[in-house]
Amino acid sequence: MSLSLLHLLSLALLQLCFHTAPQSTTPAGPKTTTLTTGFIDFPTTVEVLESARPRSLVVEFRVQSADPLPVVEIASLTPDIGAFETPIINPANTYNIFVVQIVLKDSLDYEAVRLHSVRLALVTAAGRVEQTFHVQVIDVNEPPQCQPLFQLPGAEVQVPEGLPVPLLVYNAVALDPDENDTLSFSITQVQPDASKGQFTIDGSGGIISNQHFDYQNGPREFVVSVLVRDRQGANCSGTVRISVLRVFIPPLEFLLSPQNVSIFENGGAGDVVASVRANSTASDMRYTFVNSYPPYKIGREDGIIRTAFNLDLESNQALEHSVLLVRAFSVSEGRHGTATVTVTVLDVNEHAPFCVPPIFVLTVPETTEIGKSLGTVRCGDIDVSNHKVSLTLLDNDASLYKFRLQDDQLQVNGTLDYDNAGIATGGFQYEATILASDSGTPPLTVIIPILVTVTPVNEFDPQFLGPFEIVVPENTRRGSVVGTVSAVDADWRFDSLRYSIPGGDALFSIDPVGGQLYLKESLDFEAKQMYRLGLQAVDFDQDVDPSVQRTGAVEITIRVQNVNDNPPVCDPVSYESTIFSTRSATLPILSLSCTDADGDVLSATITNGAAVDRFQMNRLTLSSRNAFSYVPGAVYDHTMFEVTIAVSDGKYITDVVAYIYVVPWTTTVPTTTTTTTPRPPQVVTVVEEFWEPDLWFVVVMTVAGALFLLCLSLLIWWILIWTSICVAPEQGMSENLLKNDLNNEHLDKLGNQDVAIENYQLSVDGALSQSEESVQKSLMRFDGKAADPVSGRSYLFNSNTGERRWL
Ligand SMILES: *[C@@H]1O[C@H](CO)[C@@H](O)[C@H](O)[C@H]1NC(C)=O
Ligand SMILES: *[C@@H]1O[C@H](CO)[C@@H](O)[C@H](O)[C@H]1NC(C)=O
Ligand SMILES: *[C@@H]1O[C@H](CO)[C@@H](O)[C@H](O)[C@H]1NC(C)=O
Ligand SMILES: *[C@@H]1O[C@H](CO)[C@@H](O)[C@H](O)[C@H]1NC(C)=O
Ligand SMILES: *[C@@H]1O[C@H](CO)[C@@H](O)[C@H](O)[C@H]1NC(C)=O
Repeated sequence: MSLSLLHLLSLALLQLCFHTAPQSTTPAGPKTTTLTTGFIDFPTTVEVLESARPRSLVVEFRVQSADPLPVVEIASLTPDIGAFETPIINPANTYNIFVVQIVLKDSLDYEAVRLHSVRLALVTAAGRVEQTFHVQVIDVNEPPQCQPLFQLPGAEVQVPEGLPVPLLVYNAVALDPDENDTLSFSITQVQPDASKGQFTIDGSGGIISNQHFDYQNGPREFVVSVLVRDRQGANCSGTVRISVLRVFIPPLEFLLSPQNVSIFENGGAGDVVASVRANSTASDMRYTFVNSYPPYKIGREDGIIRTAFNLDLESNQALEHSVLLVRAFSVSEGRHGTATVTVTVLDVNEHAPFCVPPIFVLTVPETTEIGKSLGTVRCGDIDVSNHKVSLTLLDNDASLYKFRLQDDQLQVNGTLDYDNAGIATGGFQYEATILASDSGTPPLTVIIPILVTVTPVNEFDPQFLGPFEIVVPENTRRGSVVGTVSAVDADWRFDSLRYSIPGGDALFSIDPVGGQLYLKESLDFEAKQMYRLGLQAVDFDQDVDPSVQRTGAVEITIRVQNVNDNPPVCDPVSYESTIFSTRSATLPILSLSCTDADGDVLSATITNGAAVDRFQMNRLTLSSRNAFSYVPGAVYDHTMFEVTIAVSDGKYITDVVAYIYVVPWTTTVPTTTTTTTPRPPQVVTVVEEFWEPDLWFVVVMTVAGALFLLCLSLLIWWILIWTSICVAPEQGMSENLLKNDLNNEHLDKLGNQDVAIENYQLSVDGALSQSEESVQKSLMRFDGKAADPVSGRSYLFNSNTGERRWL
């Protein structure tokens, strides 16, 4: 109500004003139009600048009306957008004339409506008159319109730091009201000034930063001033305030960052490997593996990494190194982080090496050459590491230096001798050990025993030690031992020898075992003084093949030693010679023709009394002492002397007799040759006393002795049978048999000898009884004893024949 009242008041005021003003300008008009009601000077078209402000006057005209209160109204409007105010009508100075003003209600917009058609109606009491006019909108260039906030006080943007460039920071929005007008954007100013180059603006107003925003190091706030101009140079401007935001969601850190852990294999399932812990107190901290690592698992809440199963490098070597990426996250904090855990699984030296062959058991001949391979040791170790196997040869005292290892090959390094007592006590076995150690700490080892048994090889010939010359007295009895030879053999068992005489020998035999040389027959120096005897020693049991035997041969010399066993032999045993009593002592009367088979020096001694004084012996030569006395009537010697001479070889004596006829030679009277019938020579044989058993006794003794020896042999045989368990059967038996043989042989020989002696005694018996008789006869020839008055010497005499013998 008040509004309409105010309206009316304003209308009245307008009417008052216009009443005075147009009166002068239109003085003649009213008379002609007095009678009409209608529009006066009504424009058909008016032009209005687009830029006309609201409530500005568009057009002013007059209307004539008799009605004092005419109304002008807008009958229609095309387009009907209510662009105009209700027309203002005021009475003019002139009667019946009213001024009408059309006022813009709002701004016009050329770009929207270029032509408004306004139909006005004049309503009076007299009726209604309508008239149309057009409002032509005239274009005016309008300045660009910047977005208000951008324009003032300026746009604010917050940009997180570190975003990738080029980065659209802000889009400046500006419009140009003019149709078809184009805008250009430019940056007029940047604060700080130094950052001017950082920003560009594109044709559509996009502000682009071509540098990173760095909260920490760069400016944290920029002000960019932007000018927007249209083609006509009209402008608007705005600012953008760019604040750099600290974009930092710190990743989770770990209390133990990159870890290198080592665990030993075969720790079993659930073995703790490592522990991961984020530096956060968030209660919802969780841990997972980024990828799947089957051998490991992680405690979702405690971050402890454990083995999922027993990790055995030997079965899966790929387990040796693992890089585990562990992700820790907290939902509540919105943070996460990744940790790296490098796990190294260490090998444990659990497996001792294994070797092929696990033992050397060999049998080789003792002559196996040095350097010969006995086999190759191949070792392995299934441990992933520490699997380098080294071999060491350990030998004992007996096998020291006997073996060597060369490139894992067991070789002979020294002679595997069979022939010594040391190795014999060890059963001919060389023992050593190969120690195979792996490279772990401490190393694991395995032992490869080496048992090499050597077999004998008959390497050495028996060697005779001697004696190579044996002297045997010729009187050595048959069957006795004349010497013992010995030989040695360096093959074990040492000196396993059998002696023999190749082809046998008539005189000697040898004990195969002891080497004693037996005499089989009697020796006679005088027959043969030297024998050469071939001997051999054959070894046995010195080779795996018993038929491999070696022989050592030697030829020894047996010298027969001369023994005085032959009495001197004189031939003839009786001598005769006639001498003058004055025969010089230096002139030999006769020489005895005596020899000695033994070559002994013979000495001759006169043994009968009377002759001792008259004759002397110079060796075997008889000479006179020139001590005859033929004083007639006084001492008158015999003219015939029987000189008994004992010829001795030092042991045996053979007597010879020499009959010396002495021709007394006192005067110059020629010697009368007395013819004496020569007596038959008397053989005087001195026989030494010996026991001469009768034949029957000898026979009985021989038989008894043979029986006794038979019994003894039987007894020995029985003992041997009983003890044969303990005695090495073959050797013992053979030795005994050999001995028995020898004994029997010996006995036989002894028996033969006895028979021979017997025969000898028998053969000499005849001669003996004869000589005994003659001795007795010769002793009976002397039946008295007297003393020579001249010399005082005693003599025996025969009273019948006057035969004398000096004592
Ligand atoms: C704007 O451009 C269009 C075509 O490009 C044209 O038809 C129109 O008349 C133009 N308007 C003005 C006001 O120049
Ligand atoms: C922007 O327009 C104003 C008038 O509206 C003028 O005074 C000013 O110089 C113009 N600025 C530029 C940079 O053209
Ligand atoms: C853990 O984080 C705190 C602060 O968040 C820090 O002071 C400390 O140095 C960190 N510790 C480690 C070991 O990173
Ligand atoms: C962890 O182990 C790897 C590989 O063995 C090695 O290259 C690296 O230097 C080690 N790091 C540390 C911190 O020991
Ligand atoms: C092999 O023998 C030689 C001497 O013959 C000796 O010096 C060496 O130590 C031996 N080797 C071994 C491994 O016993």
